[in-house]
Amino acid sequence: MQKVRLSDLSQCAKEVLAGLHAKEGAAIVALRGDLGAGKTTFTQALARELGITDIIQSPTYVLMKKYEIKKASPFTTLIHIDAYRLEDPKEFSALNPEQFLQDPKTVVAVEWPERLGSALPAPDLIIRFSSEGAGEGERYVALG
Ligand SMILES: Nc1ncnc2c1ncn2[C@@H]1O[C@H](COP(=O)(O)OP(=O)(O)OP(=O)(O)O)[C@@H](O)[C@H]1O
Ligand SMILES: [Mg+2]
Repeated sequence: MQKVRLSDLSQCAKEVLAGLHAKEGAAIVALRGDLGAGKTTFTQALARELGITDIIQSPTYVLMKKYEIKKASPFTTLIHIDAYRLEDPKEFSALNPEQFLQDPKTVVAVEWPERLGSALPAPDLIIRFSSEGAGEGERYVALG
């Protein structure tokens, strides 16, 4: 795992975006790690790199938020999902996720992807976050 300070997150987000390629469906980035490990903060960095100026809040209470990407990019939409409070993957299936999951111009960042079970297609990228043993103001991030 790589130690990532808040000041290095934009570089990390750039690397992640560079690693996503156009394919048939949406690009899915699974963000794994404990409470407070840095998943939402990373999504904020990702959004900034995509030129999104809206405030990215933790969507814990709404499950899913959608942002328009206006900057030139292979993507036009960022969807941020936080499945922490989801009790049953059927609640996600009920939102008609096929609509955006089939869109190659959508990038989907998912916190707590394990809670969506098979309702979420296999991710294109899994990023693991950890604060264990990290110093003040840093986190561990592993891409893979
Ligand atoms: N790379 C980083 N370096 C230093 N501090 C960080 C980093 N990433 C996140 N933090 C800090 O950790 C705290 C929690 O981060 P964040 O909300 O992103 O966690 P989370 O993984 O989304 O948690 P949850 O599972 O509750 O949604 C925030 O105060 C944030 O500033
Ligand atoms: Mg979060």
